[in-house]
Amino acid sequence: MAKQFDVLVIGGGPGGYVSAIRAAQLGFSVACCESSPYADPKREPRLGGTCLNVGCIPSKALLHTSHLFSEAAHGFAAQGISVGTPAIDVPTMLARKNGIVDQLTTGIKGLFKKNKVTLLKGHGAFAGGGEGAWQVKIGEEVVEAKQIIIATGSRARHLPGVSVDNVMVCDNVGALDIAAVPKKLAIIGAGVIGLEMGSVWRRLGSEVTILEALPDFLSVADADIASEAARVFKKQGLDIHLGVSIGEVRTSPEGVSIAYTDKDGAAQQMGADRLIVSVGRVPNTDGLNAEAVGLKIDERGRIDVDAHCRTNLPGVWAVGDVVRGPMLAHKAMEEAVMVAERIAGQAGHCNLDTIPYVVYTHPEIAWVGKTEQQLKTEGVAYLAGKIPFMANGRALGMGDTTGFVKMLADAETDRILGVHIIGAGASELIAEAVVAMEFGAASEDLARICHAHPTLSEVMHEAALACDKRPLHF
Ligand code: FAD
Ligand code: NAI
Repeated sequence: MAKQFDVLVIGGGPGGYVSAIRAAQLGFSVACCESSPYADPKREPRLGGTCLNVGCIPSKALLHTSHLFSEAAHGFAAQGISVGTPAIDVPTMLARKNGIVDQLTTGIKGLFKKNKVTLLKGHGAFAGGGEGAWQVKIGEEVVEAKQIIIATGSRARHLPGVSVDNVMVCDNVGALDIAAVPKKLAIIGAGVIGLEMGSVWRRLGSEVTILEALPDFLSVADADIASEAARVFKKQGLDIHLGVSIGEVRTSPEGVSIAYTDKDGAAQQMGADRLIVSVGRVPNTDGLNAEAVGLKIDERGRIDVDAHCRTNLPGVWAVGDVVRGPMLAHKAMEEAVMVAERIAGQAGHCNLDTIPYVVYTHPEIAWVGKTEQQLKTEGVAYLAGKIPFMANGRALGMGDTTGFVKMLADAETDRILGVHIIGAGASELIAEAVVAMEFGAASEDLARICHAHPTLSEVMHEAALACDKRPLHF
């Protein structure tokens, strides 16, 4: 007889492992299947998905090391510290990163044990069934569950004709494992991965050229933030070309050659030692045998879900990168908790309007809610409060004064509609904005809350005061 569970989760990334843990906490018998061994030396499945293995966590480890290197090379002297010319030992940097990944992925296995979640090794695909009893084939065995949560995530989108070997031409997997600092690094796509990985290798000494198809830089962000970011990244030496069209990409043992058309339509050619292709991600829906059970997939290959992540099939849910909405780990985890709680008959929810976005460059970029251009397009009257980090004592003390906070509030109700930050600590500061927006706070509410001095959070306070044109320190 097939193994039976209340809940079977397909995929062990942030969407999958979190839904499995939350469902187990709520008293269900839960299994989670995971197919990918990533870089496990024993070829065992590794939990944590893209995020822990080849995404958020390893990239942030490399960003941290390269930031320290860059500070030692360019930042210390201004504070009277001399360390000579720093050198980077790339294998040590990569080993440290791999150690963090190992620690966290092993930790999730421990959390599964603690919560009595059964880990099943292998690729999961529907084998049949219907409401109350779905059969899923995992490797060679068929498992039955009343509820299925699909959390199969996404993989890098590749360009036609550009073959990725993850040595010379890398997607996110190879980009996190480049064995030596490339003299010249080319990147296709000036999105989040392009900017973060471009920053890592630029700080370590690579000449970095980023080729972006769109005519506008970072067009998903608030335009003010995007233009400040463009200025700062140019100063840092990221050579970003917008409006390009990629042509033939050829590799040889010596390097990579990329033909492209520039924004004026002129044919160009560039050579590089390595190429990173970071042009977005595609959801993992193939291989699920979705058609056999009639699971609805939308025109962009994502599983079709409602606001509570229900699919068109009873008792089948989908969360994370494989469904609509931003492809972010914290969004996947929010949906995961919501679904487990909904299965338990509770009122779990996930507010896609208050999902924060962070780009972990230096300075960091973070935002939540509407951009100024969105409010203009929607015809919403708004108040704007904008305060530079230059006016903040803590930022001055840290020698980290680039950037600003911009708060946007409804002109009638004063409710905060969006907060946009480029500057030191943006990834942490944005949490205050998320809390405020979740509770429907007004800029006046933040203006009346005491912020510790001297902290970067005072820039948030001043931006709230500036919405009412009464900043105290600017
Ligand atoms: P995934 O993490 O992709 O996990 C899906 C899992 O399912 C995988 O382990 C896969 O092997 C498994 N699987 C797939 N199909 C099957 C199957 N049929 N059977 C069994 N198992 C299956 N997000 C952030 O919020 N912050 C960041 O800083 C950040 N940095 C990133 C950096 C990089 C370089 C990349 C590539 C991504 C980054 N992301 C970041 C995005 C984040 O990694 C994803 O949004 C997140 O991992 C999505 O979680 P998920 O569970 O939906 O999917
Ligand atoms: P992205 O969507 O952020 O950026 C892709 C970029 O490539 C876009 O600017 C796009 O216009 C450009 N592009 C697309 N096709 C192109 C072509 N043919 N030629 C040139 N440029 C082209 O995707 P990216 O950087 O691959 O990252 C994937 C996803 O992973 C992100 O969208 C995000 O959801 C997640 N991520 C999140 C991070 C974070 O939260 N800090 C960090 C890294 C990734």
